[in-house]
Amino acid sequence: MRPPHKRTIDALREINPVTTILEQNEIGDCRGVMDFYTLPANCQLPLPELQAEHEALVTILNQGLETIRSVSNPSVELFLSLLDKLRSVLGAHFVHEEQVMARHHYPNLGPHSLHHDFCTARLDRLGDMLLAGQLKPNRFMLDELFDMIVDDVIRADGDFKTFLENNDVPTST
Ligand SMILES: [Fe+2]
Ligand SMILES: [Fe+2]
Repeated sequence: MRPPHKRTIDALREINPVTTILEQNEIGDCRGVMDFYTLPANCQLPLPELQAEHEALVTILNQGLETIRSVSNPSVELFLSLLDKLRSVLGAHFVHEEQVMARHHYPNLGPHSLHHDFCTARLDRLGDMLLAGQLKPNRFMLDELFDMIVDDVIRADGDFKTFLENNDVPTST
C-alpha cells in the first residue's frame, strides 16, 4: 500500500499537473540557474498596464529570491507571505484584465475567467500544502512558482494578445 503522502501526490497530479513537481520539491532539487527571473520577450502584451501587472508578479518572485539568498533556512512563514502577496496582486490583475477583456468584447472572456479562478485555486492549494508540510520552502518552489506564473498566468493570455493584434485594438487600457 502506498504511503498517504504518495497517494496525495497521485491525487493532485490528476487534477493539477503542477504537482508533478512534488517529489523534486521533497528532494530540494533546484534547476534554478537564473540570477533573477525575467519574462520571455514573446510574452509581451500590447497593453502597457496589463503588461506592468504581469511584471509586478515576477518582481515579487525576485524579491523572494533576494530574501532566500540572505537566509540559510527559509521559513514556511516567509513563503506563505510571498504567496499572500502573489495572490493579492494576481487577484487585482485578474479583475482588471477581465474588465479590459469585457470592454473589448473579447469572445473567450468566460473560459478565460474560469482559468483565472483555477490559477487562484492552485495558488491556494500550494499554500495549503506548504502549511501541511507537503511542500518545502526552498528555491525549487520559487522556480515552480515562476514557471506557473509564466505558463498558466502570462502565456495563457496569448489568445487575448492575438485577438488584440487581429482587431487593431489601441494600446491603452
Ligand atoms: Fe494576465
Ligand atoms: Fe489572464
